[in-house]
Amino acid sequence: MNDQDLIKIAKEFGSPVYVYDAEKIIGQYKRLTNAFSGIKQLKVNYAAKALSNISILKLMKSLGAGLDTVSIQEVKLGLKAGFEPSQIIYTPNGVSLEEIEEVAQLGAQINIDNLSILEQFGTRHPKVPVCIRINPHVMAGGNTNISVGHIDSKFGISIHQIPHLLRIVENTGMNINGIHMHTGSDILDIEVFLYASEILFNTAKQFKDLEFLDFGSGFKVPYKEGDIETNIEELGEKLTLRFHEFCEEYGKELTLAFEPGKFLVSEAGQFVAKVNVIKQTTSTVFAGIDTGFNHLIRPMLYGANHSIRNISNPGGKIRFYSVVGYICETDTFASNKRISEISEGDLLSFSNAGAYCFTMASNYNSRYRPAEVLFYKGEAHLIRKREVFEDLLRNQVDVSLDVNDKKKVSVSKS
Ligand SMILES: Cc1ncc(COP(=O)(O)O)c(C=O)c1O
Repeated sequence: MNDQDLIKIAKEFGSPVYVYDAEKIIGQYKRLTNAFSGIKQLKVNYAAKALSNISILKLMKSLGAGLDTVSIQEVKLGLKAGFEPSQIIYTPNGVSLEEIEEVAQLGAQINIDNLSILEQFGTRHPKVPVCIRINPHVMAGGNTNISVGHIDSKFGISIHQIPHLLRIVENTGMNINGIHMHTGSDILDIEVFLYASEILFNTAKQFKDLEFLDFGSGFKVPYKEGDIETNIEELGEKLTLRFHEFCEEYGKELTLAFEPGKFLVSEAGQFVAKVNVIKQTTSTVFAGIDTGFNHLIRPMLYGANHSIRNISNPGGKIRFYSVVGYICETDTFASNKRISEISEGDLLSFSNAGAYCFTMASNYNSRYRPAEVLFYKGEAHLIRKREVFEDLLRNQVDVSLDVNDKKKVSVSKS
């Protein structure tokens, strides 16, 4: 997928628009499965939260992936995309017992990350196999918001609570069939990953009937050319070796599971927006574009650094710009960035727009959420229409209070 393809797509479907390169997604999936080709039972459960468009879920399914979900709605989307319930793992945090029971009824693999729910669920449904999410107390990840395996994190059951956990398992007679961890996103150092894996192995030894070990995800992907990334091939080599040793010790060939989001879809995504205005001030030159943090919140939320290219003038003179959105609060995508000379009407493309971009989009400022396009072998497929005015009103109930007569309230359906 090149710049000309993106320009054509923006012309056909309007801007801003999210575009996903199916071939890149396929390539990443194969890269991961090749890195772990020494594992007999490998399961790659795509983390739906990264990008949950049904066409993307179907693509993952056709590649042979399972699905990692965090809400009953994601489970239902997965079923709609054609995944078997047994191919779906449900790893919620802080949800109600009722929702977990509903998901169990749908047949997905339940993963529980706190003792209170474990005890209640085990008491009521001792026959439903459950995976345990542990908190290995490892500080890893690119940003405090996405480092989730440390001691202050709300995620997982502390490894120091394993004696209590074992007591619950014994008392309820429930069956623990998997142990899971996810320590954070953007983990560069594979030694950190391997260190956390040892904690997972140590925990796993204490459970007799395991079927799988889930190492979560968190692989760091490059955000620009030459950027550092997790060495997935080296991790594959080292972890495969350790996993085999563990299985031998455990006395059973287990399944090794991962649940990558970013690794599979981040680099496949481009977000294309049009420059509405060039505004020169005393301190900088702003390029104001036809989108904002309502559509791409990661730079404002995490300080994520999405590279921005001027695809309308890629060979232009390099100048410094601050790229800002149209939202009525500070809405900065990039400050003082080198970009080839921008004119009003040019199209800018944001890289790494596949993961946690559209899925975090909102209607803030009453703007429509953008269209999504899946590009495969030279063809652009619209996989989500841009919203229209009716979408903003959908589900709103139009109540006109007559403030002059307190008894009268008229309700009309929008
Ligand atoms: C439990 C769990 N698994 C998997 C993922 C996917 O992580 P990543 O996108 O870094 O691969 C996340 C991300 O937040 C997560 O919370």
